[in-house]
Amino acid sequence: MNIDKKPIYPVEAWDITELEFKKEYNYRNETTFSLSNGYIGTRGTFEEAYPFDIDTGLEGNFVNGFYESEHIRYGEANFGSPLRSQSILNLPNLKETKVLLDGEMFSMETGKVRGYKRTLHMKEGVLERKLIWKSPKGKETEIRICRLVSFARKNIMAILYEVKPLNYTGEVRIVSKLQADVENHTRKTNPIVDYGPFGRRLEPKKLYAEERKLYYEGETLGSKLTVACGSIHKIHTNGMTKSEAFRQRVNKLDAELEICVYGNMGKKISLEKMICYSTELDMPKEQLERFIADELRHAEREGYAVLEEKQKKYMENFWKTADISIKGNEFLQQGIHFNMFHIFQSAGRDGKTGMGAKGLSGEGYEGHYFWDTEMYVLPVLIYTEPEVAKTLLDYRYYTLDQARDRARVLGHDKGALFPWRTINGQEASTYYPLGTAQYHINADIAYALSLYLQVTGDIEYLVEKGAEILIETARVWADVGSFSECKNGKYCICDVTGPDEYNVLVDNNFYTNLMARENLRDALQAINYLKKNRLQTWEKLKERLKFLEVEAEQWEKIIENMYFPYDEILKIYPMDDGFMMRKPWDESKIPPEKRAWLYENYHPLFIMRHRMSKQADAILGMYLHSNLFSEEEIRRNYDFYQKVTLHHSSLSTCIFGIVASGIGYLEEAYDYFSQSARMDLDDYHNNFYAGIHAANMAGTWQAIVNGFAGMRCQNTRLEFKPTIPEEWDEYTFRILYRKALLKVKISKNEARFTLLEGENIVFYVKEKEIEITKRGETYVQKI
Ligand code: BGC
Repeated sequence: MNIDKKPIYPVEAWDITELEFKKEYNYRNETTFSLSNGYIGTRGTFEEAYPFDIDTGLEGNFVNGFYESEHIRYGEANFGSPLRSQSILNLPNLKETKVLLDGEMFSMETGKVRGYKRTLHMKEGVLERKLIWKSPKGKETEIRICRLVSFARKNIMAILYEVKPLNYTGEVRIVSKLQADVENHTRKTNPIVDYGPFGRRLEPKKLYAEERKLYYEGETLGSKLTVACGSIHKIHTNGMTKSEAFRQRVNKLDAELEICVYGNMGKKISLEKMICYSTELDMPKEQLERFIADELRHAEREGYAVLEEKQKKYMENFWKTADISIKGNEFLQQGIHFNMFHIFQSAGRDGKTGMGAKGLSGEGYEGHYFWDTEMYVLPVLIYTEPEVAKTLLDYRYYTLDQARDRARVLGHDKGALFPWRTINGQEASTYYPLGTAQYHINADIAYALSLYLQVTGDIEYLVEKGAEILIETARVWADVGSFSECKNGKYCICDVTGPDEYNVLVDNNFYTNLMARENLRDALQAINYLKKNRLQTWEKLKERLKFLEVEAEQWEKIIENMYFPYDEILKIYPMDDGFMMRKPWDESKIPPEKRAWLYENYHPLFIMRHRMSKQADAILGMYLHSNLFSEEEIRRNYDFYQKVTLHHSSLSTCIFGIVASGIGYLEEAYDYFSQSARMDLDDYHNNFYAGIHAANMAGTWQAIVNGFAGMRCQNTRLEFKPTIPEEWDEYTFRILYRKALLKVKISKNEARFTLLEGENIVFYVKEKEIEITKRGETYVQKI
């Protein structure tokens, strides 16, 4: 990781601007400027469709949840190894729009470009490109292209393409294309995967151009899923809208519309292109064509300006709660806005889709969903966009049956085991030591769910779905371990992998045991709540799950007797039973160029036998359940793990920052925070081309709110322990807690808590109970 990089883009709080088009930075910039609404994801590629190669660019259009599947070849397959892959599939591109200006094709690679500015307007959720192009023959044209992926219309992406001839009058010919000859860049984006998707994986079923419309329908070769997409075009010339100027062409794998109009000097011509995607995952495939036609018609009727207006409103609403401002620090402000913008736009919102570790910004990690969603992203969305958080939890509920099946494969007669990596709900991880063995995913989901319930007070969710998830996840914990005589009858869980991926298949991973215990506790609490308040619901659920009272008794016994590895000399919790036995790590023996890429350069056994760690593990558990440990204890553990953690995962530094804040190591906290705040914006890991690091992006919010401001919600108690980094004068954020919107402003000497919306709010500041009962009222605490 290189954190000494200069800012890549000019430092501006709300915008990301590229001032020059350079091919060598294109691949990375495509991720920076990617747009999404949680359903459609599109990379920041150009309408001109430049022929980039595998190292310089990737045209990418994705639909959340839509995947291709192939048979996975193993050298030696284990029982229960997933046999079919799931990879987010790169779909036909409809953004392509080529423009011939008085016979000369617009391209930033010919002629001269002046005043180039491509801006991601994060406040508005719109991407804009402006430039003046001087053609090789000297014709000058002003060009402005805006793009959005609509939050108001799930299936719609809209483009506004404006051209204004500056020093000539002549023909303007626009060719809008549907390009279905598309492929994933698997060799580049997922180099260790050898099962594809390679080559074109969609079999065209329908492809046509009709009046002002283009339409495509195709089926994947492996997963046998149908995707449909189309576009509709409207052109405005000098105040007139023309439709007779359209000509159509259809080839085997592409179709295009040619629009020919007269360009008057100084007069703007604009094209509004609406693009729509849908898939068989949302409706019977016979209905797709009709659906796309209707959606396109509606979107066209609304028009680009209205869609943009709605986009702004949607974003305004988001920022109203989610914005964090740091007075006088545009540098960090920009990083925070960038992070929040990307996680917000990437989250699935329909209850049937989750959120990829890379959002919908690229093909990295095959588009898989991991625990990143529950442990990093959800704790942010729960306080800022609880409705979106709920739909992400819905996705886990939606896939609960697959998780039940998976638990059976793993030998558990009861309960559900969620997949480590997935799109469709089935396990997609091919290397079980770093995959299925990460059983903690079950407890992570339960943790996020419990946090959601505590923060929102959404009891109906507990009743309808939450209790079932808690019980089914808990059941696996009650089966996977045993009361071990050699550990004085304590409950031990062997052969799991904790969050740390350099210590795998370990016994009694501290994080896993802790989170499992809390999962069991939450499940018991849910049952008790239902018994007391919704007896009928409980009886029904109990019958459906064939739940036996002895199970609850056994859970209680496990909770009381959970085993935790403990080092009596250092008085710390080693990551697992074998951690202290492993060989000390000597970084000096590793050549610098190999240090951050251990799995690429060393055998896994070499890595696993050393006493070091890739990412926050035990201390993550201590942060999440900080109420169960004394500050002194956390400090001892932090001091220990600080020395042995290499932070080779982007999920690590933000957690260390939060823990450092909690124990008063403010300088270190700030250092860690600085490593995470602009990690993607300045591409510290040099791999941003493959997509965002959603977990770290969300971790930045946590590092401020849970870190510097010390916010926790444990046992339904909302608490703050505010601090402020030396470098800052003031910072402000807002959270939603049980329908109350609370503004928290922390400056050098005081913390101010103001109730902005809602009836009242109760919280604790440094152990003192505060209640605000009037809107607009502020409580001030000296710090
Ligand atoms: C990390 C995991 C994470 C995954 C996806 C890996 O490098 O070790 O914790 O879930 O990346 O972000």
